Amino acid sequence: MRRLMPALLPAFLAATAAPAGHELDDRDLSRGTALYAEHCAACHGADLEGQPDWRQPDENGILPAPPHDATGHTWHHSNAQLFEYTQIGGQGVIEKLGVKGFTSGMPAFGGVLSDDEIWDVLAYIRSTWPERERALQASRNPPHD
Ligand code: HEC
Repeated sequence: MRRLMPALLPAFLAATAAPAGHELDDRDLSRGTALYAEHCAACHGADLEGQPDWRQPDENGILPAPPHDATGHTWHHSNAQLFEYTQIGGQGVIEKLGVKGFTSGMPAFGGVLSDDEIWDVLAYIRSTWPERERALQASRNPPHD
């Protein structure tokens, strides 16, 4: 029995740990590209480059839109965080965290895009990242169903 364990363990883990980040797999990337151009490019840039000086709040204390390419920090977040940020917007997420007195320039897209459309846009964004950022982002996704 003891000799069987090393052989059985990987199979056991594979059966219990659901693949992380699978929401972004097998997505409609051409729809995601089109939706990005229509709904996100105005702020995040046609080439995902973000707005100039995106780390500096403007005169009203509102942060500009960050890049979604590898120079930004979109890839630092798990799939669930990126989805929620897009669905309920920056203000929604901040208020959920109980933070007051901060205004976000990131609109909520829950009433505009379906869940599938949000995942398609995020999959398009991910598809532009180099392998290293893709792997790091995948590691932020805890195993889940
Ligand atoms: C009106 C401008 C605007 C539009 C349009 C917009 N965003 Fe944003 N977005 C922002 C700003 C500003 C921030 C960062 C500042 C903040 O959250 O307060 C942001 C942040 C984000 C973040 C968090 C990134 C990070 O690294 O923390 C995600 C994810 C995001 N946007 C996705 C999208 C997607 C997807 C679309 C299109 C469906 C979109 N945004 C359209 C302005 C915009």
